[in-house]
Amino acid sequence: MKKVIVSAPGKLMLFGEHAVVYGRPCLVTAVSQRMRATIDLLDEPVFQLNAPDVHITNYQKAMSQVGKGGIPRGAKFVEIAVANFYSSSEAKRSREVQNDNSSRQARTIKSNQGIKVTTSSEFSSQFGFGSSSAVTVCVLKSLSELLGIHLSNKELFKLAYKTVLDVQKKGSGFDVAAAIYGGTLYFVKAGKIIEPLQINGLPLIVGYSGSKADTVTLMQQVSEKAKKDSKAIENIYSEIGRLVTLAKIALLEKDWETVGELMNKNQEYLNALGVGSPKLNAMIAASLSEGAFGAKLSGAGGGDCMIALCPVKNKQKIAKAIEKAGGEIINVQINAEGVKLET
Ligand code: PMV
Repeated sequence: MKKVIVSAPGKLMLFGEHAVVYGRPCLVTAVSQRMRATIDLLDEPVFQLNAPDVHITNYQKAMSQVGKGGIPRGAKFVEIAVANFYSSSEAKRSREVQNDNSSRQARTIKSNQGIKVTTSSEFSSQFGFGSSSAVTVCVLKSLSELLGIHLSNKELFKLAYKTVLDVQKKGSGFDVAAAIYGGTLYFVKAGKIIEPLQINGLPLIVGYSGSKADTVTLMQQVSEKAKKDSKAIENIYSEIGRLVTLAKIALLEKDWETVGELMNKNQEYLNALGVGSPKLNAMIAASLSEGAFGAKLSGAGGGDCMIALCPVKNKQKIAKAIEKAGGEIINVQINAEGVKLET
């Protein structure tokens, strides 16, 4: 029976979180820790899932029930991705049949077949490295490979972003873009702009705060705040958007001092949105006191990770200071390769 393995990178938000949900741009980089999905074609019409990282073992249901009924939390992104793939590939194939005969090359999804999905991650789902988006991208890509139904990166983005919105209702799609395209991207919501940037040698340190941020809850909190004072919050989003444009230029010029200043400014705005946390702020302050160019939280806030941009000579000292403030240093390389076939 046929088997396909696909991997996709995790991500770190460099600039622009939250404001990106409201139409401003952001900067995201793909990280070297990867998510992996293995898909086996089965001879019976069942869907099986093993995702030990999110405590799903031997989850199983009839193929005809995929995407329907109660779905355990840890299985949601994978199962909805499978359901979306099957409905969209049916639509795509019937369009192709009408247009020409190219679909004859695509293997049909036979009603007596099923799939077994196994996922594994090189990073903890607690870090906020975008495990849900990465797994969604892996599953869609591996199904397209398994069944010989070609998906362009644009089509893959559309399906993966739809899956993320189906599950969590809100989000910009920046993490989906990082998982697909890799590298460092200038990104506008829903993939309106996905611009790869050549940024090398960014001296970043990543510190994990020890607690998981709930992205949906934090987005909700920010939107509640905006309801009370929409003018002030809109103003913050616009200021963040302006910082992102400046940061893009400074990053391309390798002007780390300016990038650091812009990170600090971005962090002030994130605190004004109410998504900072005492722990993250302590880790950020510790890195700055040991000479970081700048530091900020990365992602939704409230927990997950902070990033600090460091002069190479101060890296050790800064890492120690972050640990002293209660953080855990995560070793990552940025600019990682996007989704790829492993077999
Ligand atoms: O929590 P994370 O790492 O997935 O980051 C969320 C970033 C937001 O801008 C708050 C949401 C989004 O989808 O852009």
